[in-house]
Amino acid sequence: MLMGYNIAMIKIAPSVLSANFSDMKQAVYDIEYSSAEYVHLDVMDGSFVPEITFGSKLVNDIRPLSSKVFDVHLMVNRPENHIDSFAKAGADIITIHQESTIHIHRVLQMIKSRNLKCGISIVPSTPVCMITPILEMVDLVLVMTVNPGYGGQKLIQSCLDKVIELKEIREREDYSYEISVDGGINLATVQDAAAAGIDVAVAGSAFFSASDKNTFVESMKRLAQEAVS
Ligand code: DX5
Ligand code: ZN
Repeated sequence: MLMGYNIAMIKIAPSVLSANFSDMKQAVYDIEYSSAEYVHLDVMDGSFVPEITFGSKLVNDIRPLSSKVFDVHLMVNRPENHIDSFAKAGADIITIHQESTIHIHRVLQMIKSRNLKCGISIVPSTPVCMITPILEMVDLVLVMTVNPGYGGQKLIQSCLDKVIELKEIREREDYSYEISVDGGINLATVQDAAAAGIDVAVAGSAFFSASDKNTFVESMKRLAQEAVS
């Protein structure tokens, strides 16, 4: 294949989870002035995952600071109770976990009815077959490449097999979702993820520990492109 032929660059979604919460405005500006496409917002409830992060008020308060796509990752039980507040706060994409509620189809419909993009996420122990019935209706599939709950963990390599599977299903069924990976994605791992077929890479600790954040984003995109060229 020719270098760069028919290859779309991946999108980068820095996660504010690894930012210093005492200076959230700066964290949002760090993302805003980079060539990242999404702001990834990790909402944790202390029940679905052990930690608690923030709710819709934070999303609402930082919304005016950014023109990027707000990619809200709900790591909460009963996400149906929180769709309206995050929709009002300015989310563009709301991703829920397959493991977080029984009526996934209904909650995805709720998100779509608010004219937002909807995503489905699966933890490392959940196989792709658990979400095949709803793949036709989602805009994003977020493959967790660590057990959710904390930033700075090591990527579980076997989770990338799910990216390959999701890409095959998308091609076979003519679906249109983006495939995103979340957890342990950095300059050393992005090429494996890109080779598997991702469209979006979430990066928390790698982004916020980079001294030059835009160079980091550009490097991630370049490395990903090289992996598929
Ligand atoms: C983890 C969160 C991630 C987290 C990733 O449960 O969903 O979005 O911010 O952090 P890193 O990139 O440091 O693994
Ligand atoms: Zn996340």
